[in-house]
Formats: sequence, structure tokens, C-alpha cells
Amino acid sequence: PDPMSTPMILDCDPGHDDAIALLLALASPEVEVLGVTTVGGNADLENTTRNALTVLEVAERTDIPVAAGCGHPLVRPLVVADHVHGKSGMDGPQLDPPTTEPVDAHAVDFIAETLAASSEPVTLVPTGPLTNIALLLRHFPDVVDNIRRVVLMGGAVGLGNRTPAAEFNIWADPEAAAVVFESGLDVTMVGLDVTHQALMGREHGKRLRPTGRCGAFVADLLDFFVQFHERVYGLDSSPIHDAVAVADVIWPDLLEAERFHVAVETDSELNRGRTVVDRWRVTGKDPNARVGLAIDGNEFGEKIVERISRLP
Ligand code: BDR
Ligand code: CA
Repeated sequence: PDPMSTPMILDCDPGHDDAIALLLALASPEVEVLGVTTVGGNADLENTTRNALTVLEVAERTDIPVAAGCGHPLVRPLVVADHVHGKSGMDGPQLDPPTTEPVDAHAVDFIAETLAASSEPVTLVPTGPLTNIALLLRHFPDVVDNIRRVVLMGGAVGLGNRTPAAEFNIWADPEAAAVVFESGLDVTMVGLDVTHQALMGREHGKRLRPTGRCGAFVADLLDFFVQFHERVYGLDSSPIHDAVAVADVIWPDLLEAERFHVAVETDSELNRGRTVVDRWRVTGKDPNARVGLAIDGNEFGEKIVERISRLP
């Protein structure tokens, strides 16, 4: 690995956009993926873990360890997003089951050990429900010194997607999200306000398909993923939510972002998982997160195409 690259762990629930986020990281010398951890979210843990192994195998990076984490949110039942990602969590590409297995450690222990072993602070990139990260902070409070920052995909200043009020990852495990936002860590929130400006569609897929196995895989992912966004949002392309979080680690100036106080609604049923962002600083509370507000979507799409084309 490049000695200048930023060490990171991707905690994910693949997921079409999680898969593209992982491939973007693998294609980028600015970051070094120390491990991939999985959580129940878009699909159950068995599926998300299998999908993570599959992506690494497609990219010929089975050297990167995968650790399976929590199958269920801290206190709520698991509700998957099969209406978005299909039964497998990653419907579309036709692939053989992975030949590799996850490591013999729970994701929370794996992350703690990886942080402890790292000579420099590690960036955590959670792109699913925040269950693993919340448990990590509760179980291993001392490891925070070795977390450089947390760049999470979740939440929204404005409208939600799982409900009118809330974004899926935060809605899925709001108690865990509250722990992360209240942790005092350097948190960046990449929410729907930005990710709905970071779209990719079939045209990107067409350009990627001839570039190799990974390019064709992403084209298949996009073909499936776009169908949902056509139906629900009338878009001819899809927000590649999770890849925006990875992009922020690679290109720290790509996002327009500002620091605000963010609170997570855990009590109300109607507003469950809403990220209440104090945009106009009316609460007097100190900011606890850097919140993404805008991104150049065209530049984002071009960067992804360029990077994924480098992969096998
Ligand atoms: C988030 O929810 C999941 O469906 C996606 O993978 C992304 O992490 C978007 O709300
Ligand atoms: Ca995800």
C-alpha cells in the first residue's frame, strides 16, 4: 500500500451502492481498506456478508478480511430493504457464490483489534445501520483514540426515503445512530441531500461494461438499481449513496459541507430515525457533525467511472 494512503474500514450492508462504494475504495490508492465488516440492513446478515465476499472476489481482493457483525439492530427488529435491493440484497449480477469465508471474529472485535494494531488512526466508513459502530464505542471505549474520523452514509437534512421523515440506515437502528452522533468523534454525515445529487445510470453502465469484470458487474448493479429509482422517484438514474462517503475520504474537497448539531429521533414512531439538523443554529448546541450539503454530481459520476475502469 501507498504509505500516504488513508487506512479505512468499510462497515456495510451490500447493497448495490455499498458494493460500488467498496469497489471505489479498492480502485483508489488514496485509501487502504484494512477490512470489510458487515451488518444486517438491506438484507439479513448472511446475505450482506456473502455479498461483501462476492465483491472482493470479483475485484480479486480476497486478501482483504471480511468480518460479519450484528444481524439485528440494537433494540428493534430487523427490517430489510428488499424492495430496493432485491431478495439477495444485491440482485442483478449473476455470479457464483463466493469461494471464501469471513474471518472467525465478530465485526466489533475485528474492528477493535484492527484499530489497536494500526500504527495510525483509522477512518471508519459505515454505509449501513450503525449497529456495529455503536457497539464498538460501548464495548471498547478506549479505541476511539485510534479512530481518525467517521464518514457515514445516513440521514438527511430534508426528506427521508424509508419514511417521509427518515433515511433508511438511521431509521433501521436509530438508537445506534444516536450513540454515534453523541460520541464526540469527528463525524461526517453524508445524507440524502447530497446523495440524491450523486446519480449514476445506464449510460455510466454502458461505458463501464467493456472495461472488465468489475465494470460489467457495476453495469449489472446499475441496471437493477435504476429500476427502483425509476418507479419511485421518476429518475432515470440512481443515487449511489454509499459511494459518496468513500468519495469524501478519497477527495476531501468534493463535498460542500458544514458543521451542525445533529440529533436522532428515537422516541416518536412518525419521525423515527429522523436526523434533526440544526441548520440555522437555533438550539445553541455545539455542532457534533460535518454535514454534507452539495456535490457536483457530474464530477462524481465521472470519477467513479474512471476509478472502476482501473479494476480487473
Ligand atoms: C442507504 O440505504 C441503503 O438502502 C443503501 O445501501 C444506503 O446505504 C440509503 O438510504
Ligand atoms: Ca448501505
